Amino acid sequence: MNFDLRSVIIKDGDEDFSAKLHEAALCLKEGGLVAFPTETVYGLGANALDARACKSIYSAKGRPSDNPLIVHVSSMDMANELVQDAPPCFYELCKEFWPGPISFVLNKSDIVPNLVSGGLDSVALRMPASKIALNIIEIAGVPVAAPSANISGRPSPTRCEHVIFDLNKRVDYIVCGGDIPIGVESTVLDIRAETPVLLRPGAVSRERIETLLGKKVLNPSNTDRAPRAPGMKYRHYSPNAKVYVLADNFSSSDLDDYILDLGLKKNKVLYLEYEDDLIMARDLFHDFRQADLEGYELVLVKPVSSGELLEANINRLLKAASGI
Ligand code: TXA
Ligand code: MG
Repeated sequence: MNFDLRSVIIKDGDEDFSAKLHEAALCLKEGGLVAFPTETVYGLGANALDARACKSIYSAKGRPSDNPLIVHVSSMDMANELVQDAPPCFYELCKEFWPGPISFVLNKSDIVPNLVSGGLDSVALRMPASKIALNIIEIAGVPVAAPSANISGRPSPTRCEHVIFDLNKRVDYIVCGGDIPIGVESTVLDIRAETPVLLRPGAVSRERIETLLGKKVLNPSNTDRAPRAPGMKYRHYSPNAKVYVLADNFSSSDLDDYILDLGLKKNKVLYLEYEDDLIMARDLFHDFRQADLEGYELVLVKPVSSGELLEANINRLLKAASGI
């Protein structure tokens, strides 16, 4: 697409929203780029069967080409066409968690372009729960490849203004569906081997998967055979400000002394503390973006130490803190 043209921005609640959504979905089907809300984060979608369209996702985001895309489906029939030799646990997991915030890595079928899978012979599939996302996929009638709708390396977008900030003029349509309810990306689970591998902790917890399957899932580092989610090796989720993770026993009354010890001015340090894991997931990426807009140099985060989203929250926070 021509990067000088503005994106068409449409908002849930607008009088002509459903007609415009239709237009956006048809544009996607024909090779265009459409950003849209899901229940986890905003996604940047293209027709997953159209290699050229998917290539334009990588250029719009500035994404490395070996980082594969998650393919979003609206039905099990659509999912089945994209995979080969799916194990029985795939259907068990889908029954429990789809539509919802979990992606499964399976052997890909020949119709999935190599560009979508980053050259791997596998594909990650997800059926989102968001009504708008499902509508777009259904109207387009094709599976939709969609990474998070941010410029590569920046925090994932959880509000429409984040998408507009990063991608306006770089995509054909931006569909605004309000603030995202979950705020952390889907769990990515590789189910090709006998024992599943948790490639990325996410909104569906490890515990829920293990309870359903009646067995432990592995971490990528515990196994030689399963490849890591290639995307996890790149810089992620970070604001420009440095991020420090505070220990459990840190108290906000220590804050002034701590900042003084660091030799920083108080107005350059943002302190973040959250009521619970759901609020932390919902707000963390937004708070990172705000920190940059407001010119903070350091963000101190006191993480929530329990809840279903604990592992996902800590994973994103540590990545932001380490800058990788
Ligand atoms: O919640 C989500 O998953 C969001 C929304 C839009 O659905 N999408 C998202 O996509 O977070 P992205 O591209 O930002 O992250 C996809 C992750 C990356 O770490 C990527 O390496 C991994 O999934 N992935 C995708 N396909 C894979 C595959 N075939 N094998 C291993 N990892 C894969
Ligand atoms: Mg992403």
